[in-house]
Amino acid sequence: MSGELTGDGGRVGGLGGFPAVRPRRLRTTAALRRMVAEHRPHPADLILPAFVREGVSEPAPVSSMPGVVQHTRESLRRAAAEAAEAGVAGLMLFGVPAEKDAVGSRGTDPDGILQQALRDVRSEVGDELVVMSDLCLDEYTDHGHCGVLDAHGRVDNDATLERYAEMARVQAEAGAHMLGPSGMMDGQIGHVRAALDAAGHQEVSLFAYTVKYSSAFYGPFREAVGSSLTGDRKTYQQDPANGREARRELALDLAEGADMVMVKPGTPYLDVLRDIAQRSEVPVGVYQISGEYAMVEAAAEKGWIDRDAAILETLTGFKRAGADLILTYWAMDAARLLRERG
Ligand code: PBG
Repeated sequence: MSGELTGDGGRVGGLGGFPAVRPRRLRTTAALRRMVAEHRPHPADLILPAFVREGVSEPAPVSSMPGVVQHTRESLRRAAAEAAEAGVAGLMLFGVPAEKDAVGSRGTDPDGILQQALRDVRSEVGDELVVMSDLCLDEYTDHGHCGVLDAHGRVDNDATLERYAEMARVQAEAGAHMLGPSGMMDGQIGHVRAALDAAGHQEVSLFAYTVKYSSAFYGPFREAVGSSLTGDRKTYQQDPANGREARRELALDLAEGADMVMVKPGTPYLDVLRDIAQRSEVPVGVYQISGEYAMVEAAAEKGWIDRDAAILETLTGFKRAGADLILTYWAMDAARLLRERG
């Protein structure tokens, strides 16, 4: 056996039948492991999603997401300054209005909470962070759907596009660098791009929620935005059973002018993330969503899992799968952990 060559040229048989080829050698010390690590997340890859709620004087904890709050305008300003200090890439802002209605009026009001927050944050951090905003109606509608409804109670794709166009204009005017259309309406990227361009906002970019699955893991987010959704989003978000369909969504969003694309959720869809990362001509982000966050926090609280190690392992997994950027509620924790661990 000794000295025998395998088909790929590796000499597996060493002296006395013990291995000559030993992958464990490069795992011997922390310095060796660090040197040969193929993928490592960096604070500059991370985007912090943040909620800002209208009419509150104290940040309100989101009970299903320990450590996450609905910010006041003032606490969001501070969080933005801290994020800039920590070297993260940017913020994705979600507004929680005091009042919701059928068409999500507060989402297109220039003085709506998200628009106010965008102005606050831009005046706080300028261009130091990429300031992004969620472009969707579900935070603003009393029925909780991502669009407006037709006479039969169905989400009306093209009427919704008109609402998105208006939202895009007010968000751009309020100072967003980048908009994140997340409603999964057909044609939303093209329609929003045209609306922005017509209003003179050619410089505002679009981070398309290209591949967004109808997922059980959004649960805690619905608490975070006070959603009153009954039913589900299966007529517009993708079916978890379908992988190939993601390529079609990618082709459409690229053709319509997406500047960056996203896969969402993260962990249950690493195969899709890899596929999109290999095909995309533009940067690819992944959104580690509320339920992914809640699961790790809950298990850690019970002492069943090493929280910090689990966080870093999930982020490393996204990089390995091909993500350029990661939206994660742990962005601040992760930036600190990455600094500490080198
Ligand atoms: C839609 C939107 C949702 C999330 C981000 N944008 C909710 C949904 O599609 O149901 C979920 C994010 C998360 O769960 O962390 N505006």
